[in-house]
Amino acid sequence: MKNLRRILDIAGDHSKHLYGSIILSALSAILMLFPYFSIYQLITLSSAGQVSVNVLKKYGALALGGIIFGIITYFVALWLSHMAGFRVEKNIRKYGINQLLKISLSFFDNEESGAIRKTIDDNASLTHSFVAHNIPDIVRSVVGPVIILGSIFMINWFYGVLIVAIVIVSLYLLKKMMGNTNDMTHYMDALDEMNSASTEFIRGIALVKLFAVPLTVFKKFRASITNYAQWALNYSFSARRAYVINQIVLELFPLLLVFTLSKRAMNADHFAGALFCLLVSSQVVLLLIKVMYIGENLTLAMQALDRVDNMFVKHQTTPPSESLSTIPADFANDRLSFENVTFSYDSKKTALENISFDISPQRMTVIVGASGSGKSTVARLIIGAYKNYTGRIFIGKTEIKNLTENQLMSHITYVSQNSRLFSRSILENLQIANPNASTQQIDQALKKACCEDLIAKLPKGLETLLGEDGIYLSGGEQQRLALCQAFLSASQIVILDEVTASIDTENESQMQLAISKLAAEKTLIVIDHKLKITKDAAQVLVFDQGKLVESGTHKELVSRNGKYREMIRMHEQTQQWKLGEGK
Ligand SMILES: Nc1ncnc2c1ncn2[C@@H]1O[C@H](COP(=O)(O)OP(=O)(O)OP(=O)(O)O)[C@@H](O)[C@H]1O
Ligand SMILES: [Mg+2]
Repeated sequence: MKNLRRILDIAGDHSKHLYGSIILSALSAILMLFPYFSIYQLITLSSAGQVSVNVLKKYGALALGGIIFGIITYFVALWLSHMAGFRVEKNIRKYGINQLLKISLSFFDNEESGAIRKTIDDNASLTHSFVAHNIPDIVRSVVGPVIILGSIFMINWFYGVLIVAIVIVSLYLLKKMMGNTNDMTHYMDALDEMNSASTEFIRGIALVKLFAVPLTVFKKFRASITNYAQWALNYSFSARRAYVINQIVLELFPLLLVFTLSKRAMNADHFAGALFCLLVSSQVVLLLIKVMYIGENLTLAMQALDRVDNMFVKHQTTPPSESLSTIPADFANDRLSFENVTFSYDSKKTALENISFDISPQRMTVIVGASGSGKSTVARLIIGAYKNYTGRIFIGKTEIKNLTENQLMSHITYVSQNSRLFSRSILENLQIANPNASTQQIDQALKKACCEDLIAKLPKGLETLLGEDGIYLSGGEQQRLALCQAFLSASQIVILDEVTASIDTENESQMQLAISKLAAEKTLIVIDHKLKITKDAAQVLVFDQGKLVESGTHKELVSRNGKYREMIRMHEQTQQWKLGEGK
């Protein structure tokens, strides 16, 4: 009931359409019973010899009118429920998008974008079809049998009891027809397993073609199909006995009724009553069966909103412990410091352990370290994506735990490892970083980010639509434009996470030039494993397995015999291997 209330709330103004649909569906169920009522009346009257042409016409018109108006009201009811259904679907999507806007950035580290879309889409359309189709059907399937049973009881209580008994037996058998719950769980698990194996299969086809290997490598997919087939069979078999008995019970009922009648003295009233019961009894059971089938959708629809909510629950933005409504406008021009910061994503492993460092404003700090050493985690903590760390992080005198993610993000630009451009024009993509940027500012930013040659190559320059007419930018080109976005943004602090990762040597030197220009304007934190940029840095922080093992300038670090020197040595070795390859 609580969830139904929520669906009505989500329908907003359109909830009155839903109420209208419920009333009209009930009316339609009543109208559709008129033919049965007419037949009953005609038989009763005919036994009393009171059927004239006019009487026939009257009841004929009543029956026909009932059917016609019953169909019309049902269509109007469906139209109203669809209006409400579409509104509910739209509002659930809106709700999902609003949640996405509010949710912490940490959410996107942990959830696949495909899965997020599927959860919102599936549950929105499930709720739509429940509201649009199932609600009118449920109303009809409940109102119909109630009226039919009521009238049967009025005609003859014995038939009433008989039908109630049959309905109870049938409902019991229907429950049995749901099969063995254990088999059902296995069946659902096997279905899930087969679905995920099929996704892996589709993703893997390109690889299979590349290596020209037979499809039999997808043993897991094959096994999942066989397993699913087995459980589908087991489950169906577990339901077969109840199914067959139920069919027999339903078919036997009219026979039973006729048999009962034959045992009694058949007067006209009895005959009319029996015939009416015979005609309508099958309706009762059929409508109740419909309710049972709709019941499954009901459960799913009632849980749909919870499922959307549950997806977000783990990553609600932690409200600042001590909320600061105003922060000094130039606070981000101050130093950024970590004081004994320890953090783990989960209880299993510590991602950062007792980290302390100071980052000077308007200087470049480069963070280096092996994969998984915690570099990106440092960035995620600075942007406030996770607040459950111990220790303290300051920007100036402000502890960042006291700021909301939005407050922080308006002073920090984070170009992540996975930054992507949208399928819009390049200009629109750049304007995301600063919607008010003038043409002059954009030109300057392009120049500073060394992107002029990149734009000149494109057919329509800044107006070129990405993703259209076969125009796609390489990973490196996209990263260069991301750097341009960093120049355009008003944030004083910029974090670049592996922006040179997918860049060739020629692009790399341009990128380095751009990065050093950026360092002159902003507090720049560069996460990089190529170790070329470190020479220009005011400070290099060396991470290893979640610990800050060394810090200093490139020169200082090289003069020590530590981790950094070891990294440089290994890096140079790989460079030489590359040079030696052709010899
Ligand atoms: N969302 C997450 N949930 C759980 N653990 C995570 C998550 N993100 C990262 N980790 C773990 O935290 C540790 C540090 O990860 P991080 O992404 O900071 O490494 P990194 O130094 O940036 O590596 P790379 O150079 O590969 O980007 C790793 O052991 C990683 O497995
Ligand atoms: Mg990383």
